[in-house]
Amino acid sequence: MNERITKAVIPAAGLGTRFLPATKAMPKEMLPVVDKPAIQYVVEEAVSAGLTDILMVTGRNKNALENHFDRVAELEATLEAKGDTAKLETVNESTGLADMHYVRQGDPMGLGHAVHRAKMHVGDEPFAVLLGDDLIDARDPLLSRMLVEQSRRDASIVALLEVDPDQIHLYGAAAVESTDDPEVVRITGLVEKPAKEAAPSNYAVIGRYVLKPEVFDVLEGTTPCRGGEIQLTDALMTMAADPGSSGVYGVVFRGRRYDTGDKLEYIKAVVQLAAERDDLGPDLRAWLAAYVTELEPVFASH
Ligand code: G1P
Repeated sequence: MNERITKAVIPAAGLGTRFLPATKAMPKEMLPVVDKPAIQYVVEEAVSAGLTDILMVTGRNKNALENHFDRVAELEATLEAKGDTAKLETVNESTGLADMHYVRQGDPMGLGHAVHRAKMHVGDEPFAVLLGDDLIDARDPLLSRMLVEQSRRDASIVALLEVDPDQIHLYGAAAVESTDDPEVVRITGLVEKPAKEAAPSNYAVIGRYVLKPEVFDVLEGTTPCRGGEIQLTDALMTMAADPGSSGVYGVVFRGRRYDTGDKLEYIKAVVQLAAERDDLGPDLRAWLAAYVTELEPVFASH
């Protein structure tokens, strides 16, 4: 049995160009999903899997992230004076969540480089990486399952999702072999964003990883690809192919995942999560049904 994993790394240095102009002066991680910034869901997911030490790899224009997880004395005092405990609790939710740390990425040299920036903080222990664009529904836990597999196999673990073959070019794609567990596969190959025809399978790597610290040395030896980016996928491929290492395994996720890095998927996530909530759901569902009925004849004539 390994030591318990406590550290999570959240790369959050991206420019968020897909959401301009909303992200011109605000980090994309702060876009609200219903009434909480996307990044808070990710930190909450890490915390509920038992990871309490969070390192965010940030960049310029990302101060709002640090502020969101810090106290805001003025607002707290005002709410307290008003006796508005419900709102006060909401404000404090993100403050006391975890032990937050921040490091800047510096050069924008890709996901592999961002993860490597965590080397000093993480040290010689396995750790999790959570990408902010992927939201995993809290009702379908994935990370805790990955932590168990990491400890059981003493290997690095990625999360895999079976996607439509037309979508595989958006992801790292994995070549896999089955294991004795139907939910776990051994990774034999990885290709970053392959064309549909070149993809080894429709198993896509989604943004959850539990990595052994060896990944840092491997990243140091990973050649940047076109555009000067160091791919995490390439480092994992090296680890999967190394017969001297304990390999890389994939936990196959079949639950609900929302891609908040894509405009249409983001809108769907907001609507879906709000429609399922007790406070907003009944009214939103009734309105949605009426709206769809209203829309159909309008768009049928186009
Ligand atoms: C990154 C990884 C890719 C992975 C994806 C998951 O790509 O490089 O392997 O499949 O995250 O969301 P990005 O979407 O940051 O371009």
